[in-house]
Amino acid sequence: MPLNLKDYEMFNSKITGLGYYVPENIVTNDDLSKIMDTNDEWIQERTGIKERRHVVKGDGDTTTSMGVKAAKIAIERAGIDKDDIDFIVFATLSPDYYFPGPGVLVQRDLGIKTVGALDVRNQCSGFVYGLSVADQFIKTGMYKNVLVIGSELHSHGLDMTTRGRGVSVIFGDGAGAAVLSRTEDNKIGILSTHLHSEGQHAEELALIAPGMGNRWVNDIIADNDPNDESYFPYMNGQFVFKNAVVRFSEVIIEGLKANNLQAQDINMLVPHQANLRISQFIQKKFGLQDDQVFNNIMKYGNTTAASIPIALTEAWEQGKLKSGDLVVLAAFGSGFTWGSAVIRW
Ligand code: UT7
Repeated sequence: MPLNLKDYEMFNSKITGLGYYVPENIVTNDDLSKIMDTNDEWIQERTGIKERRHVVKGDGDTTTSMGVKAAKIAIERAGIDKDDIDFIVFATLSPDYYFPGPGVLVQRDLGIKTVGALDVRNQCSGFVYGLSVADQFIKTGMYKNVLVIGSELHSHGLDMTTRGRGVSVIFGDGAGAAVLSRTEDNKIGILSTHLHSEGQHAEELALIAPGMGNRWVNDIIADNDPNDESYFPYMNGQFVFKNAVVRFSEVIIEGLKANNLQAQDINMLVPHQANLRISQFIQKKFGLQDDQVFNNIMKYGNTTAASIPIALTEAWEQGKLKSGDLVVLAAFGSGFTWGSAVIRW
């Protein structure tokens, strides 16, 4: 039945359940220094990372299975049944298959009825993009409960030699999930989301092959070249860093302004865990205290689309998100894409 404007204004979305899953296998900086020319001091000083989780090959964990484990926890905490889920959004840059994406695999593996499943390809800002999509579906009244997952299995696709050290020490595996549910209280929940892109810099943080662009799969197979670096992610670290600090700041300000709020109103900033130095820069810029910015990159590294939902879940589990708090999410990454979400908890 079509909705009228009055209905539309009645609905908002709020996070009702959160969950995360990380593989048990801890890989420390010292572990990495045994297989490539790196060291704990360099990694901690430049990134803040102490350790990350890597799936052990053959133990069964995949991007989808980790997402499913996180989703089960989020659904249970939301106090709903899996059959109450109206739509699935899955953000990842490391899908199990080239296609189909993991959204449908979650529908299958959770045994959810044949609801829609959407795959989001926005890398580090994938969860914020996914949350925004879910929020719009709920605000328009179309759906009541949307499952949003961010999951990554980086470790199997990284260049774990000295050649790849600028990237491979940073990324880790894991998954986080949120259930977004309809509320008729417009004062709480997701107040707004803000999304951006700048494709001009697409190749500054990218995995070029296999693709249907200039690295055709048949050519890659025919070349069979072990020195072909286009199999591995590439990052122009300093260029990405400089853009990240600018875009993080801009999109946080944009979100605050859209809601007539100021930096002093923020109770908790949960940034995408790209680099502890970036989080510290943002913290200083906005005049936030240590307990107003949530960081867990030390334990998990950068888990891309999973980083915000893992961090948000840990913040919630630690009692750091209280009813009425202003919680701001912000992300920046490959694309470039970036975004923020302003939430009244
Ligand atoms: O999540 C998506 C968004 N991503 C980001 O926002 C990441 C942004 N960028 C960064 O976080 C930083 O640029 C990195 C942590 C990736 C790199 O830090 P950096 O301070 O920019 O280092 P660099 O790339 O300029 O490298 C400095 C030196 C180089 O050696 P030379 O040329 O000065 O002799 C690198 O070869 O450090 C060397 N290096 C390493 N040394 C030990 C690069 N990686 C490593 C390593 N261990 N793992």
